[in-house]
Amino acid sequence: MAQLWGGRFTKETDKLVYNFNASISFDQKFYKEDIEGSIAHVTMLGKVGILTAEETEAIIRTLKDILSEVENGTLEISDEYEDIHSFVEANLIDRLGDTGKKLHTGRSRNDQVALDMRLYTRKQIKETDLELKELLETILKIMKENTETIMPGFTHLQKAQPITLAHHMGAYFEMFKRDRLRLHDIYERMNYCPLGSGALAGTTYPLDREYTAELLEFYGPTLNSMDGVSDRDYLIEFLSALSTIMMHLSRFSEEVIIWNSNEYQFVEIDDAYSTGSSIMPQKKNPDIAELVRGKTGRVYGALMSLLTTMKGIPLAYNKDMQEDKELSFDAMDTAKGCIALFNGMLATMKFNKDRMRKSANNGFTNATDAADYLVKHGVPFRDAHGIVGRIVLYCLDKNIAIDDMSLEELKAISPVFEEDIYDAISMETCVNTRLTIGAPSKKAMEDAIRKEEEYLSND
Ligand code: ARG
Repeated sequence: MAQLWGGRFTKETDKLVYNFNASISFDQKFYKEDIEGSIAHVTMLGKVGILTAEETEAIIRTLKDILSEVENGTLEISDEYEDIHSFVEANLIDRLGDTGKKLHTGRSRNDQVALDMRLYTRKQIKETDLELKELLETILKIMKENTETIMPGFTHLQKAQPITLAHHMGAYFEMFKRDRLRLHDIYERMNYCPLGSGALAGTTYPLDREYTAELLEFYGPTLNSMDGVSDRDYLIEFLSALSTIMMHLSRFSEEVIIWNSNEYQFVEIDDAYSTGSSIMPQKKNPDIAELVRGKTGRVYGALMSLLTTMKGIPLAYNKDMQEDKELSFDAMDTAKGCIALFNGMLATMKFNKDRMRKSANNGFTNATDAADYLVKHGVPFRDAHGIVGRIVLYCLDKNIAIDDMSLEELKAISPVFEEDIYDAISMETCVNTRLTIGAPSKKAMEDAIRKEEEYLSND
């Protein structure tokens, strides 16, 4: 048990207490950020003259050694240290003696951990954003290839009106685009450096916080040292953004699962992204989509957990905050992994265009257009709605589609119908006359695709 703070204690910490308190099993995840933060801190201490040039140079060189030894596996992060900060500092002191003991001048573990977590989260935001960008590229490709692929659009999971696969995919494009915008917003708000906040009240050393912030590529230092050590808003915002991403992925997964079912057969998930059953030889299960849907709960859980942890904490640092890590790390890894896997599944999925088209044909998805036809010929909409309702009943009874009715049959229900009704309610007409911005017609979709392409290439 190696501790940094033994001085005022007369007894060893109880072993159970030590283990309960220790965080090295999980905060070792940001060893790199911890060392990078220390290098920046020491560089600044050297610049303002708190450390000599030789001391600064020796500490930086040794910190770099420690970093590369951890990275190449020659130095193992052992759990005999309380946390990653103690591990790095103890190693430095082992190698440099008294010079190593100067690293922590003008710093507390409170602002150190606040920095580490921020650096780590900042990197995660960027990586998640990149994964989302790749997913958007896959979606856009499917959109471009399918502006004429007609399928039913649903409300209440009942066939509603015909749309195209491009249009359906475009809805997800918008969702994940907003997710990226959310990540960018969070980054803008969180990219300030808490180092130099000290334990809570800054420090009497003449630290150049602007310089440290600059070295670590922050926009600047945080403006209140109590907030600097105890702010975890950025993490809550990120977990919230990850939860929204997972919610989107989960909805998408649910659709893939439905589409991949025997009843729908709109898509076929590639063998590489499906799994079999140990008992039923015929099965090819959409486990990846189901797992993505299932893992959404874990990410929501992390968000709720941190919100709850933070809600009763008085200023400034309290040990409760150590609980920000495990669930957040899990949520970050989970969400990033899910985006990548989902992307792989989507990119290799086959769309069964025939099945989609047939499904659009046989579900009265053109009923609204039949009513609109009557309206265009002078029938008040409410009456037109009633007439088409009777037509649907008639078709249900005969197990046919509206298009299968003869003109005589149609005229028997309303004399307004003429030969041009068939063209007016064809799937192509239904889709391609929907020309408003954001609608499914080929023309409107091509405009939307152009804008989405522009957005992706402006990154
Ligand atoms: N392991 C701690 C955490 O994650 C580091 C900060 C400890 N500070 C303290 N005053 N005990 O929050």
